[in-house]
Amino acid sequence: MDQLRFDGRVAIVTGAGGGLGKAYALLLASRGAKVVINDLGGGRDGSGKSTFADNVVQEIKSKGGIAVADYHSVVEGEKIIKTAIDNFGRIDILINNAGILRDKSFGKMTEQDWDLVHAVHLKGAFKTTQAAWEIFRKQKYGRVVMTSSNAGLFGNFGQANYSAAKMGLVGLANTLAIEGAKYNIKVNTIVPTAASRLTEDILPPEMFQAMKPDLIAPVVAYMVHESFPDSGIIIDSTLGYATKTHLVRSSGTPLRKKPTDLVTIETVKEAWPQVVNMKNAYHLDKIAEVTVDLVEKLQDFEEQSRLDSEKEAYWSTY
Ligand code: NAI
Repeated sequence: MDQLRFDGRVAIVTGAGGGLGKAYALLLASRGAKVVINDLGGGRDGSGKSTFADNVVQEIKSKGGIAVADYHSVVEGEKIIKTAIDNFGRIDILINNAGILRDKSFGKMTEQDWDLVHAVHLKGAFKTTQAAWEIFRKQKYGRVVMTSSNAGLFGNFGQANYSAAKMGLVGLANTLAIEGAKYNIKVNTIVPTAASRLTEDILPPEMFQAMKPDLIAPVVAYMVHESFPDSGIIIDSTLGYATKTHLVRSSGTPLRKKPTDLVTIETVKEAWPQVVNMKNAYHLDKIAEVTVDLVEKLQDFEEQSRLDSEKEAYWSTY
């Protein structure tokens, strides 16, 4: 296969001073992209500042690549976009990767722990993506990646703030994929698991060594390449493996015998094993399909109960 390249493309990677973001930035730059290395340079909890971004820029330049450092917080996303425009005149790719942790069990979580985590992950992605959006629309091209987490998809003890923000990013990506479709803007979500300062005390040590961000970077790079076919999907990747995750729902069941019956708490209880039975679960791709699916189910139910009452009336004549 021909090498997939990014010549002429400008990419912004937020939180690219270390960890996963750095791996994404190095790979994109090595394939011809001009890259904005955004990183506030704070600690794992978002406090303090350092010059991580310049180190990454130096590394890229030493290998013949093109990059510029940006030290704005993602909550001032418009300034990061300005850095790209001022230095490179355009923007094609945005990887929303910046992140912090403020883990605490829910009872002990302060409002500040909640707000800070939401500010960086969710509001940061909103601000940065919205500032790029008009540019993407006008040029009819854009590739956006949101970074979610299994803590969001499945929940994780002590991460209520982080889980909520990370699941919020999935919702954001779902809607932006719809709004961006006619402008050739593709918006997808990566769920990474990798060795970084965020996971050094979470992952078991033997796994930590193996989970190199470099194994995920090619997945994310493909997701922001012009040839990437999908939009609005969630890709989970670690250890050189990638899978797609999506929501499914059970086939469900009517909560009453006939359309003229009442739904009561008791009929709900009676129907519950069927409501939560995932044996014939299926995926719906679009919100329109969700409504159509329900209407069809309702029509089937009404038709079935009409046939049942005709049958009942017929037999009652004997
Ligand atoms: P990391 O801590 O090495 O990278 C995050 C970077 O974001 C840091 O360099 C930090 O300075 C920067 N940052 C923090 N606040 C910022 C702000 N307001 N503005 C700009 N930059 C800011 O951690 P890692 O693991 O590389 O995380 C990258 C992303 O992947 C995060 O969104 C994280 O939540 C997510 N993630 C990571 C997982 C893992 O296994 N490492 C698992 C699931 C999600």
